[in-house]
Amino acid sequence: MGLLEGKVGLVVGIANDRSYAWHIAKALHEHGAKIAYAHLPGEKNERRTGKAVEKIHSDPWLFPCDAGSDESLDELFNAYAKDHERLDFLVHSIAFADREWLQPGMFAKTPRKAYLDAIDISAYTLSAMAGRAQEQMAKSGGGSIMAMSYYGSEKVVPGYNIMGVAKACLESTARYLAFELGEHNIRVNTISGGFLRTLASSAVGGTDQMDEAARLKAPLRRGVEGGDVGKTAVYLASDLSSGVTGENIYVDCGINTIGA
Ligand SMILES: NC(=O)c1ccc[n+]([C@@H]2O[C@H](COP(=O)([O-])OP(=O)(O)OC[C@H]3O[C@@H](n4cnc5c(N)ncnc54)[C@H](O)[C@@H]3O)[C@@H](O)[C@H]2O)c1
Repeated sequence: MGLLEGKVGLVVGIANDRSYAWHIAKALHEHGAKIAYAHLPGEKNERRTGKAVEKIHSDPWLFPCDAGSDESLDELFNAYAKDHERLDFLVHSIAFADREWLQPGMFAKTPRKAYLDAIDISAYTLSAMAGRAQEQMAKSGGGSIMAMSYYGSEKVVPGYNIMGVAKACLESTARYLAFELGEHNIRVNTISGGFLRTLASSAVGGTDQMDEAARLKAPLRRGVEGGDVGKTAVYLASDLSSGVTGENIYVDCGINTIGA
C-alpha cells in the first residue's frame, strides 16, 4: 500500500512538466495520492497544465485560478470542496515578480507596485489558500500544507532581489500559519529547493552558472533534480512527518551549508 493511499489534495503551480509542482505531483501520485490541479486562467494555460498532468495520470480534475484574485480563490476552493470529500494536502508552488527587477543591480530601483505584487502572489497567497483550505482540512482530521521557497530568502543571491524578500515573507507566513492551524492538526512547512531550470527561474538574471556552481560546491556534487523535491513532498504529505510543522526543509544537495 502506498504511503499516501486514501489521501486527496490540491496542487497549485504546474505550468509544464519542468515545474517543481509537476515533480511533486508525480511523486505524490506514485505513492497513491489522488490529486486535483489549479492552473492560471486561459485556454492555453489549461492545455499546457493538462498536457503535463496527463504524463502522470489520465482524466485530471483541473480548475482555473488567478491567485491574485480573492474571487478566483473562492471559486477554486468552493469547486474543490464540491467535488472532493477530503482535503489532506495542499501544495503551493507559485511565484511571480516582474523580470525587469530580477536583474543584478536592480533591487534598489524596484517600484512599489512591482515589490508589492511579488509579495502578494509569492507569499500572501499561501495565507489566502490556507485560510480557504482550513475548514475542509480540519474536517478531514487535519492535513499538510507545503510551499516552495529558496535560499535567497536568507542570503543575498544577486538578481533574486525582490523574490528573496518575498521568500522570506513566505517562510515567515508558513510559521505563523503553522502556529494558528496547528490546533486543527494542520501542518504548514516550506521546502527550500535548489536551483532548477523552469519558466520561473529563467526570469531571474545571472543564473547561467547556477548548475555548474551546484556541481562544484554542493556536498552531493550535483544540482537538485525535481524528483528530490518530489520525495520530500511525499514525506511532508504523509503521516511520516506527523510531528513536523513550521519548518523550512532544504532540498538542495546541501549547497546552503557551504560558506565559501
Ligand atoms: N526553479 C527554481 O530554481 C526554484 C528554486 C526554489 C524554489 N522555487 C519555487 O518553486 C515554485 C514553482 O516555480 P517553478 O520553478 O516550478 O516555476 P514554474 O514557472 O514552472 O511555476 C511557477 C507557477 O506559478 C504560477 N503562477 C504565477 N502567478 C500566478 C497567479 N497569479 N495565480 C496562480 N498561479 C500563478 C504559474 O502559472 C506557474 O505554474 C515557485 O514558488 C518558485 O519560486 C523554484
